[in-house]
Amino acid sequence: MGGEVWAEEDVVAFAGAFAGADEALPVGFLGVQGFQQEDFDFGTLGVIAAAVEAGGKDFGVVEDEAIAGAEEAGEVLEVIVGEGLRGFGDDQHAGGGAVGQGFLGDEVFGKLIMEVGNLQTLILGIESSCDETAAAVVADGRVVLSSVVASQLDVHARYGGVVPELASREHLRAITPVVREALRKANAGLEDLAAIAVTSGPGLVGSLLVGVTYAKALCFARKLPLIAVNHVEGHIHSVLMQGEEIAFPAVALVVSGGHTHLFEVVEAGVYRLLGKTRDDAAGEAFDKVGKLLGFPYPGGPVIDRMAGYGDARAVKFTFSKMSGNALDFSFSGIKTAVLRWTETHDVKAEIAARRGMVNPGFEELLEKTPQATRDLAASFQFTVIEELLRRAVIAAERVGAETVVVAGGVACNSGLRAAAARRNGLRFLFPSLSLSTDNAAMIAAAAFVKFGRGEFAGMDLRVKAGLALAV
Ligand code: KG4
Ligand code: ZN
Repeated sequence: MGGEVWAEEDVVAFAGAFAGADEALPVGFLGVQGFQQEDFDFGTLGVIAAAVEAGGKDFGVVEDEAIAGAEEAGEVLEVIVGEGLRGFGDDQHAGGGAVGQGFLGDEVFGKLIMEVGNLQTLILGIESSCDETAAAVVADGRVVLSSVVASQLDVHARYGGVVPELASREHLRAITPVVREALRKANAGLEDLAAIAVTSGPGLVGSLLVGVTYAKALCFARKLPLIAVNHVEGHIHSVLMQGEEIAFPAVALVVSGGHTHLFEVVEAGVYRLLGKTRDDAAGEAFDKVGKLLGFPYPGGPVIDRMAGYGDARAVKFTFSKMSGNALDFSFSGIKTAVLRWTETHDVKAEIAARRGMVNPGFEELLEKTPQATRDLAASFQFTVIEELLRRAVIAAERVGAETVVVAGGVACNSGLRAAAARRNGLRFLFPSLSLSTDNAAMIAAAAFVKFGRGEFAGMDLRVKAGLALAV
């Protein structure tokens, strides 16, 4: 393998530039010459491998691909020492970070440089799209150094749902302490960050604005790159922090209080919408049925636990048949069926009794829930799970996927997890419970991919309530 002999410091310093270290570029940093854009991957893989080889030192984690890439690249391993790469920087962000951003436009290059230098890319994620103010620091899109979530559940619970005006106000109150806490827990300062990522939609406009404005201001003040993340894309990335690799194409089922979407994940960052709900989101159906039965908000977790005490086959609900796209969902029918059930059964008194309880614990609720209602909860949950999994399985067959990512608040559902585990032939990936519901670690994880691609947002970033991930 050819190439110059480089000192470890050169590589590390170079990596420092990539990591966004805001300092002057070292003299004699490594550059690559003679590669066309299309050769860039091979070329850069080769350079890294050669650096390791020639340096004869252990540079930390270097992937096998790098070595293989170098071998394939063979004779194109022409390396110079100089400033030939300065041109890649942009002038929006001064210093090493700017050059780093330019280089990181090449995903493989950026990633490997980081690994050779054994440096981590720390991204601060900020999420405020609905009723949770969250901040997290994630290293390399996979390692959660901190994840802080301030829930507004108490504020909204008495209204039985999220009140937008109250949500914005609570976000304003929480954002500074939440971000500070996330940095403190990660033992990081703003100077350690490579970028700040923020949810720009979909969600409540007033809530989104708090996070986006805060992130912009921090980026502006600290000359950090800003990355805009779609909340739904964030949910999909929540499984990466389990250390799982996603094989493409994959199917992603995002099920939360606001979304029920089936996507084909064609490759990293490329999505195709396969189906979505035509009325309520799955979590919304759980919450509405919970409300109907006199359970506290949000209904999802209560119904989940209640279902464990009921017979899922006791009440027969009909599955929804979709005209047009068979992969679309509808939950309004089952919601109405539950309403009819409450009207035709003698449950008024028990519902009123549950509604009258102040902050009840689950055991107290269980005690006030007769068997017939427990059975109803179990049957409702069973039907919703079937609706979700059937379509996910059909979608996977249709696109030839072996992996199904299930994310969003409803991914917490124990019945859903158990039923998915029983489906043979498909690999279902779920996030940890704490990363299933809204959080900022998933935003930082999704941003890491964009960071690698150099997809940065400008200071003119706008929030978008109905931001779509794919059509
Ligand atoms: O992802 P998330 O925190 O917020 C949205 O983006 O909507 O999801 C919240 C939703 C709520 O509707 C809640 O009832 C539901 O997730 N959920 C559950 C469970 N845990 C949370 N639904 C069913 N079973 C659960 N264990
Ligand atoms: Zn969500």
